[in-house]
Amino acid sequence: MKSGFGMLNKESMIKKAQEILVENDLGGYTIPTHGLYPFQWNWDAAITALGWAKFDEPRAWLELVTLFKGQWDNGLLPHIVFHEHSDTYFPGADVWGAVNEVKSSAISQPPVLATVAKIMFEECLDKANAKEELNSLLPQIIDWHIWWYRDRDPENTGLVVSYHPWESGMDNSPAWDDALDDVPVVDWEYTRLDTDHIDGDQRPHKSQYDRYLYLVDFYKKCQFDAKHMYENCPYKVQDISIISILHKATKDLVELCELCEFDHPNVDTLKQKLVLTESAISTLWHEPSSSFLSKNTINNQWCEEITSAVLLPLYGELATKEQAQKIHTLLDEWVTASPYAIASTHPSSDKLEPKRYWRGPVWLHINWMIALGAETYGFNKTSEEIQKKTAELLNVAGFFEYFDCNTGEGCGGDDFSWTAAIALHWIY
Ligand code: DGY
Repeated sequence: MKSGFGMLNKESMIKKAQEILVENDLGGYTIPTHGLYPFQWNWDAAITALGWAKFDEPRAWLELVTLFKGQWDNGLLPHIVFHEHSDTYFPGADVWGAVNEVKSSAISQPPVLATVAKIMFEECLDKANAKEELNSLLPQIIDWHIWWYRDRDPENTGLVVSYHPWESGMDNSPAWDDALDDVPVVDWEYTRLDTDHIDGDQRPHKSQYDRYLYLVDFYKKCQFDAKHMYENCPYKVQDISIISILHKATKDLVELCELCEFDHPNVDTLKQKLVLTESAISTLWHEPSSSFLSKNTINNQWCEEITSAVLLPLYGELATKEQAQKIHTLLDEWVTASPYAIASTHPSSDKLEPKRYWRGPVWLHINWMIALGAETYGFNKTSEEIQKKTAELLNVAGFFEYFDCNTGEGCGGDDFSWTAAIALHWIY
């Protein structure tokens, strides 16, 4: 075990979690961890704001405001915003080649931010300040959601597509293996830096990086043209995790606009998109596995591997009661089989690797989302069990990026912002 906090009481854990956010604060934005991830990441920033909100509300809003400095004119909110130069990460801004004033990547990440903003608004003490912040944030969040529906679902199917495993945030999940295998490999040499910080057996393989980078080149060669990318991108997946997270966030966004009495011409469009997704989602129901699966839209093949992504339609409130029962049966067995809930690949899969990033390890923000989803459908006991196992994990291992799903050992980066934030928001 790399680190253990078993002897610390709740107050000391809160203090430690707060210290991690303060240590990772580079002035208006919080890096996930020093060295490995020296910039601002999209869904990390949203989750991290939840942690800041527990002890510094203005700083929490600032996290979101700073992230939106990287928003593109077309609404895209990038997955990485490169506010300051750093030599410790690859691929940096030059490789992405996007030409905006604020340097960034050219893909997005799971849009959990509107859900976070709604929670922050509901729970904050200073409502007047929150409303003021939201007056400028809401139009930006709306533009980003419209970008998802317009650029990633130009045929108006109700199901957006993802162009990169990094966009799902679940980079090397076995669910993407087949779709990624069909992507060509990049034709230039490169040096990875992630394995300078972290053991290679906890990170994606080179064969995956070769394809990740081919895709980065592809967007640049398309000059980021939406139509060209949609027609030609060699990786195009209706990703059940992004679709679920987007759906919940759009619902929350519409409600947040109502709560703040904020009028915007695109709110009606968002409402229509909600209805469209609700009617289209049944096409991703895969009866043999009794769950929703992602689909590779290039060859119309299912992404058949059962990963924690398939539990997220509960969080997205996209399952019927009957479907929710079936997903809950799967979830219940999964939680029982994982000492620290929830292994990112199904515990019985031969693709599970307990320490390798998204191929097995437990991620606390995913535990939180799945627990919320279970609670939404009335599976309170399961939700409480997930929370209990998550608290236990923090006690035995501390604030790592992710955790070995069998032993609970901390993996990836240490003193990690979103782990600290989930601890502050949900556990303590
Ligand atoms: C990485 O570099 O590992 C990130 O997950 C990409 O966003």
